Amino acid sequence: MFFRIFDGRFASAGLFFAALALPMAGHAGSALAVDMGCYSCHGAYPRGEAPGFEQLAGKYAGLKGDASAEQKRVDKWRQGEWLEHIDAHERVSPETARVLFHWLVEGAK
Ligand code: HEC
Repeated sequence: MFFRIFDGRFASAGLFFAALALPMAGHAGSALAVDMGCYSCHGAYPRGEAPGFEQLAGKYAGLKGDASAEQKRVDKWRQGEWLEHIDAHERVSPETARVLFHWLVEGAK
């Protein structure tokens, strides 16, 4: 009897954390984009030549499920290889860039 109650508690704690972790994982990218100032150029009213994040998400949707293609894209972006050099892009750490790109590939939600 005691063990049954004990098990039940553990199972529900596990479910509780799983439910909490999922939406948070989705949020990490957008919160990061806000923190890093990305929205000041890529928001709903894009600045200059900057494409909006929704537009970029559409462009990167094809990378979904291909981690190595995604990573190549991240590296090029950070090096400013295929864009004019933009400070905000080059300042981003490799890890942060990876999270931000993954968020875009997943639809920028
Ligand atoms: C100062 C304005 C500015 C800021 C801040 C900025 N960007 Fe950009 N970004 C641009 C411009 C302009 C372009 C388009 C350059 C071009 O097409 O030559 C661009 C292009 C991009 C692209 C498209 C690359 C491609 O596939 O063509 C991505 C992805 C991107 N930015 C992500 C980000 C992220 C993530 C952040 C935040 C860390 C960020 N940007 C911050 C101006 C900015």
